[in-house]
Amino acid sequence: LSDTLLDSLQRPLRDLRISVTDRCNLRCTYCMPREVFDQSHSFLPRTELLTFEEIERLARLFIRLGVRKIRLTGGEPLLRRGIEQLIERLARLQTATGEPLEIALTTNAVLLARKAQGLKDAGLSRVTVSLDGLSDAAFRRMSDSEVDVATVLAGIDAAQAVGLGPIKVNMVVRRGVNEHEIVPMAERFRHSGIVLRYIEFMDVGSTNGWRMDDVVTASEILHQIAEHFPLEPIDPNYSGEVAARWRYADGAGEVGVIASVSQTFCHECTRLRLATDGKLYTCLFAGEGLDLRAPLRQGESDRVLTNLIADRWERRTDRYSQLRHAAAGQPEHPVKKVEMSYIGG
Ligand code: GTP
Ligand code: 5AD
Ligand code: SF4
Ligand code: SF4
Repeated sequence: LSDTLLDSLQRPLRDLRISVTDRCNLRCTYCMPREVFDQSHSFLPRTELLTFEEIERLARLFIRLGVRKIRLTGGEPLLRRGIEQLIERLARLQTATGEPLEIALTTNAVLLARKAQGLKDAGLSRVTVSLDGLSDAAFRRMSDSEVDVATVLAGIDAAQAVGLGPIKVNMVVRRGVNEHEIVPMAERFRHSGIVLRYIEFMDVGSTNGWRMDDVVTASEILHQIAEHFPLEPIDPNYSGEVAARWRYADGAGEVGVIASVSQTFCHECTRLRLATDGKLYTCLFAGEGLDLRAPLRQGESDRVLTNLIADRWERRTDRYSQLRHAAAGQPEHPVKKVEMSYIGG
């Protein structure tokens, strides 16, 4: 039964993304613009965060409903104190089919060099690093910080050295800001065993000033790369993979493009998101979540919690990106969407 939970568009539940903190040590303009996330912004107080016990309990229930992969996100997940202990707890869980659970983590890598070994020892499977350019100038413009690219690259190297792979690097491309880094990034990660993925700038949340004109589409990106390094398409690793894969014709590895604006993938979306405060979101662009923290803290049974989650999934109709696409870039509903740092990418 656990394998057959389907939503109203016949999509199974497979991936759970858990945001473990709404804080971050960067201020990427497309995610946490400094004007909004400044001193006057109130981050969640500790008591409102799900505890590790609570996350573990929910993770068990999600796994029984079909989840095979858990991705820890944020904010910046390495800012959550004791994250290694949460990973240890999750690493002991088994999927419904008896296979080991895959545990991935998305990080900006600022703290990764010093944490990589501990994360590996705790049982983390792999990391995905966000990096939007190779020059300090472009990186700082995107991340609105004083951090050097060298710090991020050292984090990636450390992760590779301890075996937290296959490592992926995510680059969000914003027109007029870091487009010129597309080819240098390709060049840097060719022959490295690291999979670089380019992400179309998306209208997540309601503070990043998104405009269709700022989106550099996947086809433009691929075109630029292919002018220097010829590419050939390859099959997805699994059904529902968000990135379309391409390999370098000369054997230097592969790249991916995540075309969530120009070539939407809602029809295969198997993801559920658990926000920092225990609200459950069935879409990255959802306006409202289902509160799981209150019933958890009121002592509800596993059966009650499982029913709440399963019922929510079965009624799911989300396909925001597809509707935006159909409406030629004009987002359908003008509701206040949840912010990326809180829902977790
Ligand atoms: P793996 O294939 O397991 O490596 O992970 P992934 O590609 O699912 O995860 P990752 O966090 O690296 O996703 C990359 C980016 O794709 C996210 O940060 C988002 O920007 C985008 N993305 C992921 N899932 C969705 C989704 O459901 N909808 C939309 N619109 N974008 C998504
Ligand atoms: N558009 C596209 N990608 C985004 N990310 C965060 N905000 C956006 C956005 N508006 C990406 C980050 C990171 C992941 C968690 O989500 O770069 O790789
Ligand atoms: Fe922080 Fe990642 Fe958001 Fe950048 S994209 S502000 S690194 S959470
Ligand atoms: Fe899934 Fe919503 Fe993204 Fe579509 S827009 S792929 S339904 S999270």
